[in-house]
Order: sequence, then C-alpha cells, then structure tokens
Amino acid sequence: MKHLAFLWLIIVAPAGLWAQPSGPVVTGMQTEHLTDPLGIDATHPRLSWRLKGGERNIEQTAYALVAGTDSAAILGGEGRAGYGAAGHGKIWQTGKRWGPAQLVTYDGPTLQPFTRYYWRVTVWNREGQAGQGPVASFETGMLDQSHWKGSWITDTKDIRTKPAAYFRHSFSLTKTIVSARAYVAAAGLYELFINGKRVGDHVLDPMYTRFDRRNLYVTYDVTEYLNNGSNAIGMLLGNGWYNLQSTAVWYFDKAPWRARPSFCLDLRITYTDGSTETISSGKDWRTALSPVVFNSIYTGEHVDARLDIPHWNEGPFIDTGWKNVIFTGVPSQHVVAQGSVPIRIKDTVNAVDVKRFSDTDYVFDLGRNIAGVSRIIVQGPAGTILRLKHGERLYPTGHVDQSNIDVHYRPTDDSDPFQTDIYILKGEGEETFQPRFNYKGFQYVEVTASQPVALKQNSLTGYFMHSDVRPVGTIQSSNPTINQIWAATNNSYLSNLFGYPTDCPQREKNGWTGDAQIAVETGLYNFDAITVYEKWLADLRDEQQPNGVLPSIVPTGGWGYEWGNGPDWTSAIAIIPWNVYMFYGDPQLLRDCYENIKRYVDHINSLYPSGLTTWGLGDWIPVKSKTPVEFTSTAYYYADVVILAQAAKLFHKDEDSAYYSRLAAKIKAAFNEKYLNKVTGAYGSGLQTELSAALYWHLVPTPIIPKTAAVLADRVRADSMKLDVGLLGTKTILNALSENGYADLAYRLASNETEPSWGWWMKNGATTLYENWPINAGSDISMNHIMFGEIGAWFYKGLGGILPDTAEPGFRHIRLQPHFVTGLNEFNATHDCPFGTIASHWQRDGDHLTYTATIPAGASATLTLELPGGGTQVEEITSGTYRFIWVTGEAKFHRG
Ligand code: BGC
Repeated sequence: MKHLAFLWLIIVAPAGLWAQPSGPVVTGMQTEHLTDPLGIDATHPRLSWRLKGGERNIEQTAYALVAGTDSAAILGGEGRAGYGAAGHGKIWQTGKRWGPAQLVTYDGPTLQPFTRYYWRVTVWNREGQAGQGPVASFETGMLDQSHWKGSWITDTKDIRTKPAAYFRHSFSLTKTIVSARAYVAAAGLYELFINGKRVGDHVLDPMYTRFDRRNLYVTYDVTEYLNNGSNAIGMLLGNGWYNLQSTAVWYFDKAPWRARPSFCLDLRITYTDGSTETISSGKDWRTALSPVVFNSIYTGEHVDARLDIPHWNEGPFIDTGWKNVIFTGVPSQHVVAQGSVPIRIKDTVNAVDVKRFSDTDYVFDLGRNIAGVSRIIVQGPAGTILRLKHGERLYPTGHVDQSNIDVHYRPTDDSDPFQTDIYILKGEGEETFQPRFNYKGFQYVEVTASQPVALKQNSLTGYFMHSDVRPVGTIQSSNPTINQIWAATNNSYLSNLFGYPTDCPQREKNGWTGDAQIAVETGLYNFDAITVYEKWLADLRDEQQPNGVLPSIVPTGGWGYEWGNGPDWTSAIAIIPWNVYMFYGDPQLLRDCYENIKRYVDHINSLYPSGLTTWGLGDWIPVKSKTPVEFTSTAYYYADVVILAQAAKLFHKDEDSAYYSRLAAKIKAAFNEKYLNKVTGAYGSGLQTELSAALYWHLVPTPIIPKTAAVLADRVRADSMKLDVGLLGTKTILNALSENGYADLAYRLASNETEPSWGWWMKNGATTLYENWPINAGSDISMNHIMFGEIGAWFYKGLGGILPDTAEPGFRHIRLQPHFVTGLNEFNATHDCPFGTIASHWQRDGDHLTYTATIPAGASATLTLELPGGGTQVEEITSGTYRFIWVTGEAKFHRG
C-alpha cells in the first residue's frame, strides 16, 4: 500500500504538486503540426505547444523539454532532482533554455524506426513559476526505404483493364498482441480492410503526388482489428490519378508514371513478450477483380453489385478463382510518410428537395454546392442500371445541366459519362451505393434508372469531403451578406483542398498554382492548413526543372510547362512558404524551398534582364479592363525577389541577401520608370488592378504612396464604386484601399450586392464562389472556384485588422489595425494562431464605439486605433482582453 502511494507520487503528483495553480498552463502540444501523429519519418521533428489563459501579460521566459520512450518516466518530468538529470527512459533533455520559443526542433539522439516517443515541456513564466503540459507523443514509421519488408505487388492486368482489383491474404497470430500498425504505400487509391472491417476513416488515401518522384505511405493503428488466431487483410485498389483512364485536355491519361495500381504493405505487430512480427505484401497474396467495374477520380465510378464477392476480406475464405499476385517495380525510390491531415467526409448534406419526373428519372437538390460524393439507398430488380449524374446547375426543364463543367472533358466513347456514377443492382433488398475512388463538385444529382425504382427525398445523401483541416477563424458581422460571403469562401476553399489545392472540384481538379497562391491567406486565416501546404510544396519541388521553371499545374503528367506558368501563377513557390512562415512562425517550409525559389528567380532574371517580364497570363477573367501582363507579372517577380532577399537574411545568407535586395531594387526602378507618373502618382493607364497591384506589392516609392492611393480611390469612384478587376486584381484591390486610408471604399466594394460583386452571387443563391463575375457567363463559369477568394482573408485584415508582423511572425507580435468602416455596425474576427485565439471585435452603439481585443498568452500587439475624428491612437498590449471606448466628442479612446 505504502509502495503504491509512493508510485502515485511519482506518476501523478508532479503536475499537481510542482505546477502551482498560478503557474503557466501548457496545452496544444503538436509534433510536425499534428497531434500525437503515427508513422512520421521526420528525423528532427518539430515540437510545439501553447500557453493557456486569458489573463494579462502571460509570457514564457524559459522552457525545458524532455523526450523518451517510457511514458511514465516522461510523466515524471524533469523532477525535483533537477531537469537535466538523465533518467530512465529519457533520451533527450534540453535543460532549461531561456527564451519564448514555443516551436522547437528535436535535436536529440537519432530516432529509431517504429518507436513511440513521449515528450513533455516545462515552461516558466516571468514570475519564475513553472508549469508542465500533459505528455504528448509521436511515433516513427519508416525512417529509411530499407525499413520496408513487403514487396510492391499488383495483379497481372494492364492499364486498360477497367475493374479495380481486390487483394487478400490470410494469416494467423498466436501470441498476445500489444499493438499493431499497418503501413500502406500505394500507387493508386485504396481501401484497406482487416477481418472484414474497413480500416480508419480517411478517404482517397494516399494523396496525389508526382508518382514517379514521390509516393506516400499512410500509417494506421490496427491493434483493435486483429484477432488472436486467424485473420485476413483485404485491399481494394483503385486508379486515382495514377492510372487515369478518362481523357481530358491535360493528358493525364498519358502521364509518364501511368501503370496498373500497385501497393506495398507492412503490418507490424508487437507482442506482450516484446517480440515483433511483420505480415507483408508478397507472393502469397491472392487477387481477383472486384465489382468496381470502372473507377476514375475525374469522372465517376461504376459498380456492378451482381459481381459482389461476399466475405472477400474476411477469413476463412475459399479463394477458388482468385489468382496469384505478381511483383512489380517501385513507382519511385522516394516513399515518404503522408504527413498531412487526411481527406475525410466532413459533412452530411441531406437533400432538400427531390423532383420526380417519372419512376425512372429523379433530380435531387442538396441545397448547397459541395465537393464530395453522394450515397444512394435503393431497392429494385437485379440488373437495374442506375445512373447518377452530378452537376451544379439545372436546365429550365429541371434536369441536370453539366454544360458549365464538362467543357474540357474529351470522352472517346459513351462508356465514361462525366461526373456520373453507374450502379447495377443485385436485386437483394435494400442496397447502398457510394463511390470510393472518385469525388465530384455538385449540388444536384439526377438519378435515371433502366427500370422503375421508387426513390424518396432521403434516398440520396451528399457527403462533403476535403482535407480535414481544423477551422481556426471566424467572421461575424452585422451585415448578413458579408457573413454569407465568408461562409461561401470557406466552402470553396475546402471544396478545393484534397491533399493539394485545386481550382475546382468538377471540371478540372487541377492544382493550379495561381489559384493556390492567391488563396493562401484565406486558407491560413481560416484553417490550420500547414500540413497540406507542406505536402504540396514538396510536389512543386518535385516538378521544378533544373533551370527553375515550374509548371502551371502541380502535380502534372507534363502539361503546364508550356502554358500559364509565368510568375503570376508559379510564384506559389515563394508566396506560399512565406505566408506559412508568417502565420506559423515556422521557417522550415521556407528553408526547404529556398534553393527552389532562388533557381526560379534566377531563371526569370536570366530571361528578363531588364527587370520587366511579360511572362504570364495576367489579370485572368477580368470584369472589363485588362491590365498589361507585363505589369502584373513584374509585380509578382518583384514580390518573389523580395521574399527571397528576406529569406536569405533570415537564414544568414548575407551575400544572397545583398544580391537579391539589389535585384529587387532594380526591378522596382524599371517598373516605376515604365509605369509610374511621378507627378500624379498614377500607374499605367490607371486601372484598378494597376494601381492596387503597385500599392499592394510595395512597388510605389514611399513618398508617392498617398498620391497613388488617392488616384486608386478616384478610380473606384469613377467606376461607380464597382469592381473592375480580374483574378490578380481581386488579390490587391481591397487590401490596397484599406491599407492606405480608404477602408470605407474597400468595404463598399466588398459588400456590393449588384453585379459584378461577391454579394451579387450571394443574392442569387450562391453557397460557393464562382469563377466568373456574370453568373450566366458563356465560358469559365465553374460554380465552385476559390480563385476570387482573397476577400475571405481581407475580412481579417481590412476589417478586423489582424496582421502578422514580419519581425516576429506566427503572430508572436500582432499588428492590430481594425477599420471601423462606414456602413457596418458590428464586426468580429477571431483567429487561432500558434499562441492561441486572437479576437478583434468592434461595435457602434449610439454615440459609443467599442473596440475589444484579445491577445493570446505569449503574444503581444501594437494596436492602432483610427480616431473617428482623424488621426490614430497607438497602444502596446500583451496577452489578455482589452476594451477601448470612444464616445462622440471625445478626442481619444479610453480603456473600458
Ligand atoms: C482554371 C483556373 C486557372 C486558369 C489558368 C482555368 O481553367 O480553372 O482557375 O487558374 O485556368 O488560366
């Protein structure tokens, strides 16, 4: 008993006894920006945490980390005996390190594969009080290609074979299991089953990469799936982008990596006696064709339920008719951990209406536009063929209209209809169909049947899928249109996030670099998307030519090195890592891309030594006026060089920093020489995009900024307070106005409800953003594009004023510059930054204007309040909640 009490002290007491109630409280521990991840392959993982608490002035002055393989030892923490003392099970102890760092790279002894590491941090506040976080963990997977035991296997079919293959293997286990992990690398898509049960809740694993350069493996905890005794593993292997059989204008069917899907699997089991056993993919696996008779990530999935093989993924099973598998080549020599949040089904969307045209033709309406799949529950005679046609629009007749989204599809026959699933009933009672290896962009589903079927509104359900990024931002205002635009922007952002950012979920599903770099701030203000960007920037690096050239779409089978890949699009290589650094304070992605940005900039420099470049698409899909391509492309080129010079400084590459600073100055000079009217402050022919791009990308000489801003404001007024921009101008127009004294005008544009505007779309029932300003545009009118989505970031910047500070990124220091714009009574923005939640709220109430800011523990802010009578009031604040009130007639805000 005594003994037990002592144990309690060691294991449970430290946090309670030594972390005094008033000491700092640690929370939100992550490894590689994921919570307790499995199967990581980073050899120096990044560990991060945050401090909890809404009180004033919470600050970390020091921290100490301890990591090891024994959770009890780590729970014991640094211990009274003094941190730094080596203890049982501890492999790494930093000792007390002074400073505010809350993101630290592991630099202890070499990590071992397949090992669970526990870590814990102790932090000290200004008063010298210590607090400890709970124990966090991460588990390593394949740290080297040689750690794989399994073979890459496939069936004997070729790339033209339509049906997806099943694979199965049975085995028996005799010892008592402690834990089991499945490591699955696949070229294609898969669903994994153990003893008949689908493993995990991810969909569309693994994510799309340039398959001949990089393949991803996924790790699952499968301890609970295994039996003592006989077991069976099943794999259903689909094509994904690896073996795309549908034909469209980007030639993915001709991709150099294309082959019949294959996979490699290791099931690693740890027993109570400490031993391990690995069941692997190999020659003893068996294969057969599945009822998934056709599957295309691009168009749809066809299932003939009559071909069902009951119990195929269970054991025991008589596999007569099944064939032996064959070994096949590794798709690339670079099989790495997926490392990114998975794609999941995130929302169930019930149909709000069904229209019955006949007993063989029904149209379901989900009431909102989504990316994902539909599921149908149906009953009918065997052999009945159901076609489920998905689209975003209806013809006036009420039938599904795909004419806005099927334009780049080039079918070779009618066997593979666009955005259409085909299901053939087996005729045994109620049947459920939902595709596994495809997703679509849609609001409507037209179900036609070869024989009468009875369908009701709840026969069909929509499922919204996307990369499962945690929401980290909220916007709420007294203007419902603004709230709607924000929600629609997020819907489009998520509809275009499937392990890589896409342009649209229906027509293309392409990783357009321009759309992605324009939307990165919208993404990062609203979602914890770092892991998706880190994954996708690796894809960009994989695609870069030695001379620095990038394709316009990533990944690509080769298309896009020829068209659309100027700096206005492919600046994604610089702009995204820079923004990730700004939002997370984590320089790793920028460091990983540094040489790539350099090669890229050097290439443009070698082609365009004058500093002006005409390479690019320009202000894509403009309202009416078109800014010269040279203008916008040079602005992007300049932005990249500035980022590179700043990154060089950050990484102490002094020569580079000096060289690229000079190059930036040269570009700026050439640009202003050609486009700036120094007398009036006007640029080019004075279009909204020209003026706002020059301001936003900091090309305007400082003394001239007020003049240029005034010219821009006049331009907007002359344009009847209406937008006259395309894609590149939507990035700059609102920001350039609100950053330079014209927030009211920016708000007018942002809240317009007449054509062309975001509000116009909302008034016409949009639940997502569109690709074109006129809703009835003749072309380029996908109804789920993130391209015009910068407004979703602008709400945080231009109204809430929550801005990162280059000097202390990751919102350690926040530039808080709210704009209390005319025409809006209340506005609230919150953003969960690496330190906690930042909130910026303002409200007008009679003669009072109240502003409330919340700064998370460990962060500080410089708050600039615009005085309604003119001028500004600057306040330095640290963590906590602060209220400032201005009353009509008073000269300043007072603290409330
Ligand atoms: C895509 C865009 C993309 C553009 C490039 C379109 O087809 O949908 O979003 O950026 O092409 O020109």
